[in-house]
Amino acid sequence: MSAALSIRGLSAGYGPIAVLQGIDIEAAAGRLTVIVGPNGAGKTTLLKAVSGLIPREGEVLLDGARLSGSPASIVRRGLGHVPEGRQLFAQMSVLETLQLGAWLLPRGERSARLDEVLAAFPKLAERRNQLAGTMSGGEQQMLAVGRALMNRPRMMMLDEPSLGLAPKMIEELLKIVLRIRDSGTTVLLVEQNVAKALAIAEFAYVVERGRVVLGGSAKEVLASEEVRTAYLGTV
Ligand SMILES: Nc1ncnc2c1ncn2[C@@H]1O[C@H](COP(=O)(O)OP(=O)(O)OP(=O)(O)O)[C@@H](O)[C@H]1O
Ligand SMILES: [Mg+2]
Repeated sequence: MSAALSIRGLSAGYGPIAVLQGIDIEAAAGRLTVIVGPNGAGKTTLLKAVSGLIPREGEVLLDGARLSGSPASIVRRGLGHVPEGRQLFAQMSVLETLQLGAWLLPRGERSARLDEVLAAFPKLAERRNQLAGTMSGGEQQMLAVGRALMNRPRMMMLDEPSLGLAPKMIEELLKIVLRIRDSGTTVLLVEQNVAKALAIAEFAYVVERGRVVLGGSAKEVLASEEVRTAYLGTV
């Protein structure tokens, strides 16, 4: 079920502005890989480029096969993307949002999948008729994750799902991320909570100014002097 994602020599930017310069990242099948880095490093740009939302150079492979074309065709290949800032429609209910997320599934499978996702997110089930725009930040983030899960992705990218959430909610979101991995979906997670993210991930990369400056097992990255001084404030 899970798929490996290989990003090789990826460069991307916005018009004349080059942001990413030759990024190499491997997200191993069925594992949790974390990307950390300062604001403006290019993390969101990287996920957008992988999803086909902005043009890119270089290679992106899903289970060894080139991933290219429109964003819709990339989703069809099994890539889910929970974008930065959730990007929900405020006027749509929880149910409507999830149903819309299942656009890729055959009609006959949609209601069974909806039941599965609601079972996995009891909070969403409780609030199924509430409008997305009236939910708390944490609930909205869960909804964004649930929506991406509706299509049964083999590989899921999440862009700072814990942004702006209280510590307890951050823990809950990270538990959800682990459940996604444990259910057999490869996860590539961008996260600002460096210590928490590295504690639960198998692999990690540090991106700074559009380049990968460090990569390896999450343990190695956590132990590196670079991360301890620049990101964790300890030596
Ligand atoms: N639509 C855009 N047009 C022009 N420049 C952009 C655009 N989006 C992002 N950038 C620039 O690209 C660079 C990387 O931004 P990006 O959002 O990828 O960083 P990030 O690592 O995700 O940061 P953060 O941790 O704050 O989310 C920044 O300098 C940003 O100003
Ligand atoms: Mg970002």
